Amino acid sequence: MSFDKVLIVEDEPVVRSLLTEIFSRRKFSVAAAETLAQADTLLLKDSFDLVMLDIRLPDGDGQQFLERLAALPERPLVMMVTGYGSIESAVSCMRAGAFDYVLKPFTPSQIDIIIKKAQSYRQLLQVNKLLSDQAAEDEGGIVGRSPVLLRLRQLIERVAPTDATVLITGENGTGKEMVARELYRRSPRRQNPFIKVNCAAISENLIESEFFGHERGAFTGATDRREGRFELAHQGTLLLDEVSEIPANLQAKLLRVLQEREFERVGGNRTIKVNVRIIATSNRDLISYVEKGQFRQDLYYRLNVFPVHVPALRERGDDILPLAGHFLARFARRFGVKVTGFSDSAQGAMLAYRWPGNVRELQNTIERAVILTEAGHPVSAAALGLPLVGQASSSAGESLLNASQPFDFEPQAVAVAEPEPLPASAASLTRADGTVLTIAELEKQAIANALVQTEGNRTKAADLLGISIRTLRNKLQEYRDAGAPIETPVGTD
Ligand SMILES: Nc1ncnc2c1ncn2[C@@H]1O[C@H](COP(=O)(O)OP(=O)(O)OP(=O)(O)O)[C@@H](O)[C@H]1O
Ligand SMILES: [Mg+2]
Repeated sequence: MSFDKVLIVEDEPVVRSLLTEIFSRRKFSVAAAETLAQADTLLLKDSFDLVMLDIRLPDGDGQQFLERLAALPERPLVMMVTGYGSIESAVSCMRAGAFDYVLKPFTPSQIDIIIKKAQSYRQLLQVNKLLSDQAAEDEGGIVGRSPVLLRLRQLIERVAPTDATVLITGENGTGKEMVARELYRRSPRRQNPFIKVNCAAISENLIESEFFGHERGAFTGATDRREGRFELAHQGTLLLDEVSEIPANLQAKLLRVLQEREFERVGGNRTIKVNVRIIATSNRDLISYVEKGQFRQDLYYRLNVFPVHVPALRERGDDILPLAGHFLARFARRFGVKVTGFSDSAQGAMLAYRWPGNVRELQNTIERAVILTEAGHPVSAAALGLPLVGQASSSAGESLLNASQPFDFEPQAVAVAEPEPLPASAASLTRADGTVLTIAELEKQAIANALVQTEGNRTKAADLLGISIRTLRNKLQEYRDAGAPIETPVGTD
């Protein structure tokens, strides 16, 4: 991800050339302007990742300029450059959207810190954008037509535009996070960060710093100052995912931020004020946590300002088929196969099943079924691998042993006496020992194949795969992060 174009807007020649030199040495491409008018001209020609903005300029002040920057489609990060005399205006610029400020005179290493900080913030914003783009691409909104879902949509529409704290409850996989993102997308804060923190996934000794950040030297390993999620979410929305899992000692601190909207970084004593909208989710019954003394009652009331319950899928049977169709279309597109809907008994099996893993389970089931279905055919009950409705014999005719199917696998409820040999087309779906590859493995294999076919050209590979280049990059990064990268020829995209 590139972060290498800086615009310097500064009328003092000495400061301007110092900044120019510092950034050039760090391999930035630098444009410099003495006046706002010049800066405007430069902005017409090019876009920038970072703007170093003086407050007092011959033809206006930095704050006015901020508003113009904020209206740009690719909004750069703005760092105010200010003398001691104008710290107050710098701070008000930050309220108006500047990222931070630096005091004159400054040293090159201070600028280095700014660069690093801006980079990591920008990265976070992009990851965030990528995730919500991907989510938007994948989801295209909340699918379903059951009366309970319609009520849920109405509730979302009503509460989204407000700043009210929302507590979303529901079983695993019902769509709580999806509802949270929908609330964000329909809120006036949608241009600002959406920051998620999974309270269950962070280790207990890091969670405080994760929430509130820390000062340098606050604890062993804290070599730099770091902003926490609350600070990063300033002006935006913070999702406290699985909030029931917050350790007891942090609950009091969380309560204070929710009440006062202020906190201190770990190891610091400066009080930081933030403006964030809080959305929390829980798949536990928080009331019983409160009764057992595991969750503070006052915190519960603070969070439960506007409760939104996402019902289990089995309580909204009318949503099953529309959701199944939605996922079928998605995966057929993604895997590049034409699948012609569901057979009658596949529909029956889906409607009869209880879906303990809710929408996520349905989604995974369809993903797998699409892979197992031959192009031009409907998804059969057997491909879904669900317990079959009625007698096993009545549905056996539909099993994948059917000659028209390309290969067989063993559906849970249909006993397969003697599996037929796998045709060649199925070979890549199994491991050497004949066991079936997981969806994730298949996906990785498909990506690797596409990259080989396109000689490492990611744009073409993404086209072949029918996914966006962003999704592809994201996947490749995931493999690298997991320590199992795909070795590809050097690409030209
Ligand atoms: N109504 C819906 N329409 C389309 N997709 C949905 C819907 N509900 C859920 N999904 C999809 O199902 C998956 C699970 O949803 P989500 O992650 O929001 O559930 P969750 O309740 O947060 O689960 P968990 O409790 O496990 O965290 C996601 O991929 C989501 O996009
Ligand atoms: Mg979730």
